[in-house]
Amino acid sequence: MAIILAQNLTKKFKDLLAVDDVNLEIEEGECFGLLGPNGAGKTSLVRMITAVSPPTRGNIWVLGKDLKVYPRQVKAILGVVPQLDNLDPDLTVLQNLITFARYFAIPKQEAYRRSTELLRLFQLEDKHNSRIRELSGGMKRRLLLARGLINQPTIIILDEPTIGLDPQARHLVWQNLGELKAQGITQLICTQNMEEAATICDRVAIMHQGRILTQDSPQALVSRYVGDEVLEIEANSRNRGKIIEKLTSRGLDFVDMGDTIQVCHVGRDELARTMMNFPERLRQRPATLEDVFFRLTGRTLVE
Ligand SMILES: Nc1ncnc2c1ncn2[C@@H]1O[C@H](COP(=O)(O)OP(=O)(O)O)[C@@H](O)[C@H]1O
Ligand SMILES: [Mg+2]
Repeated sequence: MAIILAQNLTKKFKDLLAVDDVNLEIEEGECFGLLGPNGAGKTSLVRMITAVSPPTRGNIWVLGKDLKVYPRQVKAILGVVPQLDNLDPDLTVLQNLITFARYFAIPKQEAYRRSTELLRLFQLEDKHNSRIRELSGGMKRRLLLARGLINQPTIIILDEPTIGLDPQARHLVWQNLGELKAQGITQLICTQNMEEAATICDRVAIMHQGRILTQDSPQALVSRYVGDEVLEIEANSRNRGKIIEKLTSRGLDFVDMGDTIQVCHVGRDELARTMMNFPERLRQRPATLEDVFFRLTGRTLVE
C-alpha cells in the first residue's frame, strides 16, 4: 500500500493552475523528490498533502486515511519542514522546540526529553540557549528539521530544505536525512537542486507548470532520457549548421543549447567514432537530471 496516495490533485488560484491533475504514489520508507524550477507548483502540492490548503479537485490518502475526513489524524503523523524559516526569533533554540511540541499536546517532560535528543542528533546541543538570530543558515535549517521531528512522525515533508546553504551545510543536512531514512521515516522533499534529488532521492517526479512530466529513480530517468554520457560540441554561428547536419546524418540524438550542442545516448563505440569525426572542441561528461529536465521542457531548472 502507498503511504501517500494522491489522485487527480488540482489547485487553482483564480485563473492560474498551480497544480494540474497530479497523481502520486509514495511508498513506505522511500525518499521521494519533487524536482522542478521556481513556480512549478511543488509548494502548492505539498501544502495540499499536509492539509494546509484544500485541493480545488482530487483526493489524498495518507496511510489509507482520506485527508478530507481525517485531517487531524493525518497531521499528527506528519512532520513538516517549510520552505521559509518560521522559527520564533524571540525564543531560544530549545524554547522553539518545546513551544512547537505544545501543538501536538506532548507533555512537558517528554517534550524536553525529545528536544534535547533532537538537538544532539542535529549537532545543535551547544546552541540550545542561543537566540535564533545567532544561528547560521545551516543551523536554522537543521533546527527546522529537528522541529519537524518533534511529534515523531512517520512521514517527513521537506520544502527545499537546503536552499541558500553552502555546500558543507547542505551535505550535513543530506547526511541527517540519510539517518532518518535508515530509521524508516518516509520522506517527501521539494527541490530545485538536481544534485540534491540525485543524491538523496530513491525516486524523483519532475514537475513543470503544475504537472508531473515523468517519475522514476534518478538513474533510470537519466538513462532513459539522456543516456549515461553526454558529448558536448562547442558551436558558433559559423559551424552550427554543419555540426547539426553531420549529427543528423549519423542518426544521433542531440540537443541544441546555443553555445554547445549536446549529443545524448551515445554508446562507447559511437562515442569514439563521433569524436574522431568532429574537429571542433569536444567535452565528454556524465549526464544529469538537469539534462533530463531540459530534454523534457526546453528549459533549465535554475534561470
Ligand atoms: N496563494 C497563492 N495565490 C496565488 N498564486 C499562488 C499562490 N501560491 C502559489 N501561487 C502561484 O502558483 C504557482 C506555483 O507556485 P509554488 O507552488 O509556490 O511553486 P514552487 O514551490 O514549485 O516554486 C506559481 O505561479 C505561484 O505564483
Ligand atoms: Mg516552493
